[in-house]
Amino acid sequence: MAQPATANHAPGDIAIRATGVTRRYLGGSFTAVDDITLDLPEGQVTAFIGPSGCGKTTMLRMIAGLELPTEGTITVYDEPIIGPGPDRGMVFQAYTSFPWLTALGNIEYGMKILGMPKREREAKAKQLLEEVHLGHAAKSYPSELSGGMKQRVAIARTLAQNPTVLLMDEPFGALDAQVRWEMQEMMIEIIEAEKKTVIAVTHDIQEAIYLADRIVFFTRNPGRIKQDILLEFKNGRRFAKKEELLAEPGYIETERQLFAWMREEIQAQ
Ligand SMILES: Nc1ncnc2c1ncn2[C@@H]1O[C@H](COP(=O)(O)OP(=O)(O)OP(=O)(O)O)[C@@H](O)[C@H]1O
Ligand SMILES: [Mg+2]
Repeated sequence: MAQPATANHAPGDIAIRATGVTRRYLGGSFTAVDDITLDLPEGQVTAFIGPSGCGKTTMLRMIAGLELPTEGTITVYDEPIIGPGPDRGMVFQAYTSFPWLTALGNIEYGMKILGMPKREREAKAKQLLEEVHLGHAAKSYPSELSGGMKQRVAIARTLAQNPTVLLMDEPFGALDAQVRWEMQEMMIEIIEAEKKTVIAVTHDIQEAIYLADRIVFFTRNPGRIKQDILLEFKNGRRFAKKEELLAEPGYIETERQLFAWMREEIQAQ
């Protein structure tokens, strides 16, 4: 059984540190991500935002260890990232559950692989199903679930490996507006309950402001950091209901600023 990844860490420790990270493709002729230097402290929720093709997924995949930087280094608690690990859990845009396992079975799967005893993993899987509001669908198979429900299973499955860092790439991108809204509010509950370091990639400005404590805005291409801001108007608060955020002084100005940056990048040659 892997040690809980949080065992020796404290708030304020740097969870993820990127130093001079560049990723090139096509034999070096195309630069997707250029010279990113970034410290992400434990417990912070960061949104990566920027126009399509700016390198958000590439940056997240390097943090996940699914690909390596061409130059520079990324560490997780000072350990160089050289591949995927259970300390970093990834939720993808496309639902990634096993069709032959029930919702509960999908969530238990990773814990089974890690050798957790059956009773313990069943209890944990049930708790996670409740956390993602799917307690009633434990015995359903993915084919019987809606898109939003499948994504809830995928989130619970990732949380089951008890990662310190939760990486999400457009996790609600395939969902319609109402389901997306419910999922965002559920994510706030999970963030509060699990106290993980989270990086969420999104195109959606309102989603970024709602979920994150900090926004890292990327330039179009190559992907560099255009702006890196703490959402100070939230003053460390996370809002259970989305409309509470919208009523907050400072919200509209933040949204306007992010739209202006997005327009600059979309129009940049
Ligand atoms: N394996 C690859 N080979 C060549 N080019 C790649 C590869 N992976 C990504 N790229 C290019 O790198 C750039 C950044 O891609 P990436 O997927 O990281 O962007 P993104 O910001 O996530 O975009 P989107 O918002 O559309 O998901 C794009 O121009 C993409 O075509
Ligand atoms: Mg992407």
